[in-house]
Amino acid sequence: MKRTSPLHEPQDVPEDLAPTSLRLAVLEGLLDSPKHLPSAYLYDARGSALFERICELPEYYPTRTELAILQTHAGDMATCIGPRAILVEPGSGAGVKTALLLERLLEPAAYVPVEISPTALQASVRAMATRFAHLPIHPLQADFTQAFTLPHALRRGDAGRAEAEIDGRVVFFFPGSTIGNFDPQHAQALLTRWRLLGGADAGLLIGVDLRKSAAVLQAAYDDAQGVTAAFNRNLLVRANREFAADFAPDSFDHLARYDSVQGRIEMHLRSREAQVVHIASHTLGFEAGETIHTENSYKYTLDGFAALAALAGWRLDAQWTDPLRRFGVLAMRAA
Ligand code: AVJ
Repeated sequence: MKRTSPLHEPQDVPEDLAPTSLRLAVLEGLLDSPKHLPSAYLYDARGSALFERICELPEYYPTRTELAILQTHAGDMATCIGPRAILVEPGSGAGVKTALLLERLLEPAAYVPVEISPTALQASVRAMATRFAHLPIHPLQADFTQAFTLPHALRRGDAGRAEAEIDGRVVFFFPGSTIGNFDPQHAQALLTRWRLLGGADAGLLIGVDLRKSAAVLQAAYDDAQGVTAAFNRNLLVRANREFAADFAPDSFDHLARYDSVQGRIEMHLRSREAQVVHIASHTLGFEAGETIHTENSYKYTLDGFAALAALAGWRLDAQWTDPLRRFGVLAMRAA
């Protein structure tokens, strides 16, 4: 196998500068009532480092549970996916899970990491290129929460793949329960878009955190060491830096609560006292106890998630879970 195209080295841009759409969402959210912030704003350099620490916490089971599922069943997953997969990974991370899968895939045709941050994109290209020297890599700098198109050589349609330069089947790999950050309607819209992007023989391998007791869930999002609290408060630290705002992060409590009706963990920052904060040219008033809603993390049943994906044009091929049924990995194909 040879590289079919040169690696596109993403340009270096200043680290940690949020794109305009994200900056606007920050201001809009703080001026809204009730106040909220986009969860994507959690991931500047410090936020990403704090998230890595969260993944190591004893209470935060999702990462290690999904990793164990992948380690145990990567062979079955590869069989299910079949040969010549064009693996598209929206929000590619450190690549540990990706490597586990790529090692088992039969003649993978290409790897397409999709990242909004050029620095992160470059990192995943480098990691995979060293590890899989013969794998064609087609990095795509894009916001995967918005509509994006595949590199030209990889485009597919429901008419078939006759005119495509690279022969293979587009398979979206979306581990980590990142889908849980989207409301079910948005999750469905995202999966519909990917179904259309992938064409008639598209595949999807997706990790989903499963519903379980409120105590286990709340501990996972409110750990004893306070790492998740620091991760949450970092939103204010970042806003102070990027908007010259004057939040006192320590005057906000970290709150994580499970809404069992909606099946979601909510993270909030709760103002301890009545206070006034300045951001950009705005003055924000907080009442004592008022919260900023900072993240939702939806939890599904395996059947519930398969039903949601079915509405987006995907049908279930196979699913894997851990012995405690904490986390699920679903393999799906275009219906
Ligand atoms: C990266 C979105 C999967 O929802 O569990 C971890 C983020 N927030 N602790 C999750 C997160 C608080 C995480 N995801």
